[in-house]
Amino acid sequence: MQLKKSIQGSNHPNRIFLLEKNTAEVLLPFTNEERAYLLERLNQDERLVEINRYTSKILAVGIPAARNENATLEAWRRVGSEVAQWAKKEKMKSIEITSLNEDAASLLSFTEGIVLGSYQFLKYHTKAEKIKSHLSEIFISGDLVTDREIQKLSVLTEAVFSARDQVNEPVISLNAEKLSEIFRQRGDEAGVETTILGRGQIQELGMGGLLAVNMGSLDSPTFTIMEWKPECPLNNQPIVLIGKGVVFDTGGLSLKPTAKSMDYMKSDMAGAAAVAASLRVAAGNKVPLHLIALVPATDNRPGGNAITPGDVITISNGATVEVLNTDAEGRLILADALCYAKKYDPMLVIDLATLTGSAAMTLGIHGIAAMGSQCRDLFDLLKEAGEKVNERLVELPLWEEYDEMIKSSIADMKNIGGSEAGAITAGKFLQRFVEYPWIHLDIAGPAFLHAADHYRPAGGTATGVRLLTEYFDLLATRLSSGSNSFRVSPND
Ligand code: BES
Ligand code: MN
Ligand code: ZN
Repeated sequence: MQLKKSIQGSNHPNRIFLLEKNTAEVLLPFTNEERAYLLERLNQDERLVEINRYTSKILAVGIPAARNENATLEAWRRVGSEVAQWAKKEKMKSIEITSLNEDAASLLSFTEGIVLGSYQFLKYHTKAEKIKSHLSEIFISGDLVTDREIQKLSVLTEAVFSARDQVNEPVISLNAEKLSEIFRQRGDEAGVETTILGRGQIQELGMGGLLAVNMGSLDSPTFTIMEWKPECPLNNQPIVLIGKGVVFDTGGLSLKPTAKSMDYMKSDMAGAAAVAASLRVAAGNKVPLHLIALVPATDNRPGGNAITPGDVITISNGATVEVLNTDAEGRLILADALCYAKKYDPMLVIDLATLTGSAAMTLGIHGIAAMGSQCRDLFDLLKEAGEKVNERLVELPLWEEYDEMIKSSIADMKNIGGSEAGAITAGKFLQRFVEYPWIHLDIAGPAFLHAADHYRPAGGTATGVRLLTEYFDLLATRLSSGSNSFRVSPND
């Protein structure tokens, strides 16, 4: 999708007006008759009113009512996605937006909603023409938003689309090596430095978690390291992102039942797609922060020498794990990545993972289960970012009492905690490998949808990309205003 400023004096055939209030007191290009019609419709609580002039179309959009500022922005995104459906139905290739309400943020959110709501994954449809949206350019008129803002939105939405594509791609065409290769290609284009470690190097590093999960697979695991380092970063110590890259999760020998359980587990690399995309956005927008992303990747299968319940494995820091359920594989590969992160002496590590059914059962598609340690202020700022972009965080506790639940009688810990508090015991497991400020985001619920939800289509959503992008902006602002004294006290 091309986003650009309108050419002065152009007479676009498909114009959309964001109204100031829900009245048609607007002067602009309506005739008296049209204005009366608009008024009548808007008074009946319609938000989108179309005026059809046969050779051209005008859509008037009333301000959506909402509780507060963030909810208003979200409402604009949602109206935007309705407009995307309208443009698709009308087979429009191009539209122009004019805001009459003088609010840049709502105009940007509205535009974001149109773009994100236009996403389709049609690669495997041989008759795509029939169901395809033709919308490929959006003009924004006036000077309410800057070129830089339009450019940033364009970089962000492109990255969201590519993360969604990766999540939607089935494992038959996207194994660990291919995923890493795509990260490298996209990273090269964006100015991100990428290093891919293969099986040999992973063995040398002793990444026993990643190797264990990979044992039932015919394909090699990978460990991808991506870096964005601007010339004068505001942070001396980098922020490290970690994404779970399970390209397919069958459960391994602890096999998942297919219906509603295994069927969509191609999405188990959504965390990986999100962190890689966020790094590319940061590079594309030249965010003044030093960022690193780590992705341990493999499929989890029951073939060959597959890791077996009762096996004891050793993570790269030397800690031993009794694997009592091979379906709790995410934490095993993340453990190696968390150990690897230590070498950067990070300011903060954030991991994103489709980690537990428990998180999805608790929050559904509307929230991210978040846990953290030693990072109170950094955590609160991430929450703030989440509210802004509507990728909201709900904090769960990491109380030490939960440690009991992952005790093993024959190893340092076991990889399951019992039937209760599943999202938390997974978090507690990860915490064993953490020696720095850390935030864990369990995105199992919102990462992949079975039905569209406004501007999030069915399939991969790219949850985390908009969140982290907003976070880096807030953090950069905070750091450049001289406030680099973040409280690091424990979160409880
Ligand atoms: N990838 C799954 C978690 C998941 C479930 C993601 C549903 C998205 C939707 C993860 O690897 C898993 O299987 N977790 C198990 C852990 C259990 C065996 C301790 C779970 O949550 O059931
Ligand atoms: Mn699993
Ligand atoms: Zn999994």
